[in-house]
Amino acid sequence: MKKIKSLRFPIPVLCVFYLSVWCNGEDESVAAPMKRTEVEALYSAVQAFGVSCDLFDGFWRLKALSFFSCFVSPRRYPVSIPNQNWEVLAASLEWLEFRSNPGLIGQIPFKFGQLENLQSLVLLENGLTGELQANLGNLINLRRLNLAGNSFTGRIPDNFGLLNNLLILDLSRNSLSGSLPLSFGALNSLLKLDLRCNKLEGRIAEELGNLKKLTLLDLSNNRFSGGLTKTLQNLCSLEELVLSDNPTGGDLMSLEWQNLTGLAALDLANMSLTGGIPESIAGLKGLRFLGLNDNKLTGDIPTKLASLANVSAVYLHGNNLTGEIKFSAWFYGKLGRRFGAWENSVGRKS
Ligand SMILES: *[C@@H]1O[C@H](CO)[C@@H](O)[C@H](O)[C@H]1NC(C)=O
Ligand SMILES: *[C@@H]1O[C@H](CO)[C@@H](O)[C@H](O)[C@H]1NC(C)=O
Ligand SMILES: *[C@@H]1O[C@H](CO)[C@@H](O)[C@H](O)[C@H]1NC(C)=O
Ligand SMILES: *[C@@H]1O[C@H](CO)[C@@H](O)[C@H](O)[C@H]1NC(C)=O
Repeated sequence: MKKIKSLRFPIPVLCVFYLSVWCNGEDESVAAPMKRTEVEALYSAVQAFGVSCDLFDGFWRLKALSFFSCFVSPRRYPVSIPNQNWEVLAASLEWLEFRSNPGLIGQIPFKFGQLENLQSLVLLENGLTGELQANLGNLINLRRLNLAGNSFTGRIPDNFGLLNNLLILDLSRNSLSGSLPLSFGALNSLLKLDLRCNKLEGRIAEELGNLKKLTLLDLSNNRFSGGLTKTLQNLCSLEELVLSDNPTGGDLMSLEWQNLTGLAALDLANMSLTGGIPESIAGLKGLRFLGLNDNKLTGDIPTKLASLANVSAVYLHGNNLTGEIKFSAWFYGKLGRRFGAWENSVGRKS
């Protein structure tokens, strides 16, 4: 384990530091005061950042700790999260958040894997690097894990599949690589899975089809290949499916789109898709956004698309779609500029 030096730079004056202390205040006789060891651990964790803060007597057990926009200067005042003492907070800490701290660098402390009562771990938009350690998979009470907007590298640990209470998993905007762990198929509470803007590759795992509660799946801007995985059609709770900007390839016809009855946004732009546009897409009555642009689609545009009552944007440009486009003047009038069919062999008929 790499030793992380604790830095004692004065923090910038504009720092907005707050320690959200959640008191268990309803019944004071039941609420346990924070243990002395916990207070000391907290002091030590906080002081390692060069932050001083007054804690008062009778302090209750610390449930939530949040550092928002505290460490903002990666060049002048880079700070890393100290690795010591976190285990003393393990019994009480439920929410831990470091958000919008570009000056917060280095790795996730190994000991975060011992904060076993955490329900929410948010390390959003910091300057953190390194690989995601497998022991985060021990945090089985997590409902939200958000590590987005850092510079994490390496594979997503298989152990993340153990987090079967997770509702939200957001690893977007990092540099994660490798394939999706097949173990993700066990995350059966998951509502939102956002992995966009990484370097993930391989086939979109069939196991994702098990995530029956998923409302958002965003895998856009990665390197997924091997065609559209058929089991995506089993994601019957989906409202947003965003797979754009991947070299996925394959054929839209291979899925039964009509099964995704709740879908409001379908973005499959720039995926090297071939073949025609299936009429079943017109069966997605709740669709508001349809992006099929910049693929290699051929054939006629199904006129039934014009029957999508709630659609407000349709992008079909950058394909080789042919034939007459038979939308009604009403349909064009409604969509206006949000209908894009340019750069096809046959353009929009006026
Ligand atoms: C699609 O939905 C129909 C009826 O709701 C169901 O019988 C069928 O199994 C579903 N197909 C898939 C592949 O989920
Ligand atoms: C299309 O997707 C590829 C990745 O497959 C990406 O490199 C490229 O920038 C995307 N093109 C556009 C116009 O976004
Ligand atoms: C269309 O949108 C309206 C208003 O948002 C909504 O009430 C209705 O259910 C939608 N129709 C479909 C088919 O989803
Ligand atoms: C469209 O078809 C032409 C001729 O078949 C081909 O040369 C061109 O590359 C195709 N364009 C796209 C975007 O697939």
